[in-house]
Amino acid sequence: MTELVHTRAALAKVRDGLPGAVGVVMTMGALHEGHEALIRAARERADHVLVTIFVNPLQFGPNEDFDRYPRTLDTDLEVCRRAGADVVFAPSVGDMYPDGQPAVRVNPGQLGEDLEGLSRPGFFHGVLTVVLKLLQLTRPRLAFFGEKDYQQLTLVRRMVRDLDVPVEVVGVPTVREPDGLALSSRNRYLSPEQRRTASGLSAALRAGATAAEEGADAGEVLAVTHRAFADVGVGAELDYLVLTDPELEPGPVSGPARLLVAAWVGGTRLIDNMAIRLAPRS
Ligand code: PAJ
Repeated sequence: MTELVHTRAALAKVRDGLPGAVGVVMTMGALHEGHEALIRAARERADHVLVTIFVNPLQFGPNEDFDRYPRTLDTDLEVCRRAGADVVFAPSVGDMYPDGQPAVRVNPGQLGEDLEGLSRPGFFHGVLTVVLKLLQLTRPRLAFFGEKDYQQLTLVRRMVRDLDVPVEVVGVPTVREPDGLALSSRNRYLSPEQRRTASGLSAALRAGATAAEEGADAGEVLAVTHRAFADVGVGAELDYLVLTDPELEPGPVSGPARLLVAAWVGGTRLIDNMAIRLAPRS
C-alpha cells in the first residue's frame, strides 16, 4: 500500500507513525526507471520508503521549463507502488513555500557556481534549499540521489557534511537506455532525430572511459572524448566537457576521476557523466 499525502501536516502525521529507518527519494515527478532504481535501492536499505514529488520553482531560471515540465502524478503513483514506496509526499508550491520565495537559502559555495551553475545561475541554491527543507520535513536516516546528476549528488553530500545534517546520503548508479542514453524526464522533449543525436553524449563518455582503460592520460582522454562528441555532428551543441577528480575538486587528476558533459540538443539541455580510472601518474 502506498499512501499519498499532499500537505506538510498530513506528512507529519504519517511520518510520526513510521518506526525504524526511513529512506527518502526526492523527485520532481515524471518518474522513469532511473527514479525507480532509487526507490528500489531505498527499499533494500530502509524499513520505510518515502518518495517526494515536487517541481521546485526555486531551481528553474526565468527562461527555463518550469511551466512545461511534465506533471504526471497518476502514472508516478503507479511507479511508486510498483517499486515499493510506502508514502508519497506531493505538496503544492504554497505548501512548500507558505511565505512565498524563501529569503534564506542554502549557499552551495564555489562548486555551485561552476559547471551546471555557470549555465544556470541560482540553480543549486534552489536545489539545496528544497533538499534541506525536504530532509527536515521527512527526517530520513537515508537519502538516495542519482549519479546521473553528479554535481547535485556531490553538493548534497557536501551540504550534509558542512551543515551536520543527520542523514546518510546514498548515491545510485545511472540507469540508461540500451543505446546508452541516460534516462531523464527531459528526454521526452526530444524528437526521434534529436533522440538519436542525444545518445552521442554517452557514446563520447564511453570513448573517453575506454581510452583511459587503455592507458591514456588526462589530456588524451579529454581529446578522445571531444573528438567522439564532434562525431555526433550537427544538432548537439557542447556546453561543457570536463575531467575532474571524483569530488569535483579543481586541480590535476589521476587515478579515479569523473568525466562530465552537458550539451544542448535542440532546445533541450542534457547532462551525463561517467566514472573513469586514469593510470596513476609516474
Ligand atoms: P529529478 O530530476 O526528478 O531526479 C530525482 C532523482 O532521480 C535525482 O536524485 C536524480 O539524480 C535521479 N535520477 C534521474 N535520472 C536518473 C537516472 N537515469 N539514473 C539514476 N538516477 C536518476 O534531481 C531532481 O529531480 C531535483 O533536483 C531534486 C533533487 C528532486 C530537488 O528538487
